[in-house]
Amino acid sequence: MFFPNRVEITEVGPRDGLQNESILVPTEEKKQLIYHLSQMGVKRIETASFVHPKVVPQMADAAEIASYCNSLGLTYIALTPNMKSLELAIHSQVPQIAVFVGASETFNQKNINRSIDDSLNECTLMFKKAKEHEKFIRAYVSMCFSCPYEGHISFDNVKRVVEHFVNIGADEISIGDTNGQANPRIVYERFSKLKELYPSTEFVAHFHDTNGFAYANVIAALQAGITKFDSSIAGLGGCPFSPGATGNVSTEGLVKLFHEMGIQTGIEIEQMNAAKLYALKLVKK
Ligand code: HMG
Ligand code: MG
Repeated sequence: MFFPNRVEITEVGPRDGLQNESILVPTEEKKQLIYHLSQMGVKRIETASFVHPKVVPQMADAAEIASYCNSLGLTYIALTPNMKSLELAIHSQVPQIAVFVGASETFNQKNINRSIDDSLNECTLMFKKAKEHEKFIRAYVSMCFSCPYEGHISFDNVKRVVEHFVNIGADEISIGDTNGQANPRIVYERFSKLKELYPSTEFVAHFHDTNGFAYANVIAALQAGITKFDSSIAGLGGCPFSPGATGNVSTEGLVKLFHEMGIQTGIEIEQMNAAKLYALKLVKK
């Protein structure tokens, strides 16, 4: 089995964690959450999303959150689904941006109101602009295993989107089990294939935990050679356009799992627990 000395965790709680919460969290409280998370030793935090405020009202304060993250000197990611978002993110001096395209046509249409082809074409223009501004570019591929609208998603559908992102120069590609329906076998097979096809690409595993398989899926991805994982404090999260899906794999569960196996994450347990308590207070769980 593959047991690396260290893995890298990206905390996505302030973005993926909060975007699906029905309670609108005040901006000042989001800042406090980000501050708590910044103290636990995580390398990067996904803090905001420059999406349409009518579509995801929880993310309407992205510019103010970005300004706060800049004042802390944080390395953070903000989601940018289209050129307009990218321009807003550049204006807000966001260091790392993330585009997102689904491997499922129906999901992509519902999520960002574009066909996959139109989204990929827009991403080509966005990558050019983001690179001119020296941004680190994460590319998400959502619904990489199954989709609430289309059912099973074929590997070829995933490959088509991944390949486009590889060709236009993504700095990393996060493979999403958006609705949390993957199992360890398909995870191992798909990540192994992707690593074989694109050996110099940095892949990230992004699991939602709908069926309680997320930790098993993490280990399966690890065995396929993946060492970068996304997780959310207190397991918050979900996507408004992925009905029935629950939160991301929890940061505290992931950190405990890795530490027990002798794999370092750089995350401090005490600060992480404080961040978790604060996050739970915010969503009153
Ligand atoms: P649209 O309606 O198609 O946009 O929305 P449009 O280009 O047709 O423009 C319509 C109007 O919206 C125009 O205004 C634009 O200016 C405005 P008007 O001229 O009518 O006054 N507009 C915007 N305003 C603010 N911010 C913007 C923006 N863009 C256009 N960025 C859009 C397209 C992408 C904006 C919309 O569909 C959207 O916001 N979608 C976001 C969906 C979302 O946030 N989903 C959750 C994140 S993805 C996820 O969770 C999965 C992930 O975690 C990985 C995984 O789990 O797999 C990442
Ligand atoms: Mg997600």
